[in-house]
Amino acid sequence: MKIENDLLLRVARGEKVERPPVWLMRQAGRILPQYRELRASVAGFKALVSNPALAAEVTLQPVDELDVDAAIIFSDILVIPEAMGLDYDMVEKRGPLFPRTVQTAADLADLRSGATAAQHLEYVYEALRLTKAQLQNRIPLIGFAGAPWTIFAYMVEGSGSKTFSKAKKLLYTQPALAHELLQKITDTTIAYLRLKRQAGADILQVFDSWAGILSPAQYREFALPYLRQIRTALADDLLILFARGAAHAWPALAEMGANVVGLDWNITAPAARQLLGPEQVVQGNLDPCALYAQEADIQHLTTTMLNDFGGHQIANLGHGVYPDTPLDNVRCFVETVKNYRYSS
Ligand code: CP3
Repeated sequence: MKIENDLLLRVARGEKVERPPVWLMRQAGRILPQYRELRASVAGFKALVSNPALAAEVTLQPVDELDVDAAIIFSDILVIPEAMGLDYDMVEKRGPLFPRTVQTAADLADLRSGATAAQHLEYVYEALRLTKAQLQNRIPLIGFAGAPWTIFAYMVEGSGSKTFSKAKKLLYTQPALAHELLQKITDTTIAYLRLKRQAGADILQVFDSWAGILSPAQYREFALPYLRQIRTALADDLLILFARGAAHAWPALAEMGANVVGLDWNITAPAARQLLGPEQVVQGNLDPCALYAQEADIQHLTTTMLNDFGGHQIANLGHGVYPDTPLDNVRCFVETVKNYRYSS
């Protein structure tokens, strides 16, 4: 079935379009009062994530409220560790916490992986099917997963961290064990993304949120090979690779065949184009804090970004939208992109 507004898919395929498509990372949840209300009525974050009907509802909230050009399925990257056998709690105001982590070969041996692990996530696939039906082909649906390194970081560290020094320590002290865990995560992620696509995802994004804490050499050893495996296994799918804080690695992402390279805001558009070339489709990269500015400034900053990247661009922020961003400012960002037109 043809999607009515398939701007995002056309841009991701490298086609020329009339204006950039726009969506926001973390648009589902966080910023919408409707989300907070629903969230307060259930037992917690995981009660929402594991309920397909509610997950579909949260996915559609920003579509109806903001008129963005894509929906992203409401879920979390941490469902993968859970499916592999590492449970987590989402602690109010603190974030994720894993009672058990992976430190030894014995911990690793206890984990499920691949298709066996991915079949534990039936609730995600059901949420995708419900969302797809409710979207009625208005706009594309984005499926996502964490990158192997970012998932590894949570499974070893056991929580969020500024440095992820426990996770990085394992890379330096037990590299063979680290590679085994990364391989298990990768096998699971591939099976998971395939099932997400079968359940209705039109395009996939892989979030390497903690890419920037690895040195270039470590990123080459512990991250890129696994991203390459994902790209190869999903050769027929449209794929957005977002390695936050790792501009040194973006050319490698383009070379391995990412349809879209996600950018953060620590780079100018000319420098990014220098790295990736004029034809590479990019996504980003407005500073999420720019959405705290006055409307005229938001319009100016957004238009400048659109002009500077030129064609082959998906308008987004350089990371997820922050929870306390005024909704009218998010609306201003989206409207500015939707009113923009390429000159030729
Ligand atoms: O983009 C979307 O709106 C889709 C839903 C989505 C969530 N998490 C829902 C969520 C997506 C794509 C994610 C990805 C995710 N989760 C990442 C990668 C993207 C990034 O921002 O770097 C990471 C690192 C996580 C792990 C995670 N989940 C953390 C650290 C936290 C706590 C802090 C926070 O981000 O709010 C979560 C919880 C979470 N995931 C919430 C939502 C809406 C808030 C939970 C709540 O309602 O209390």
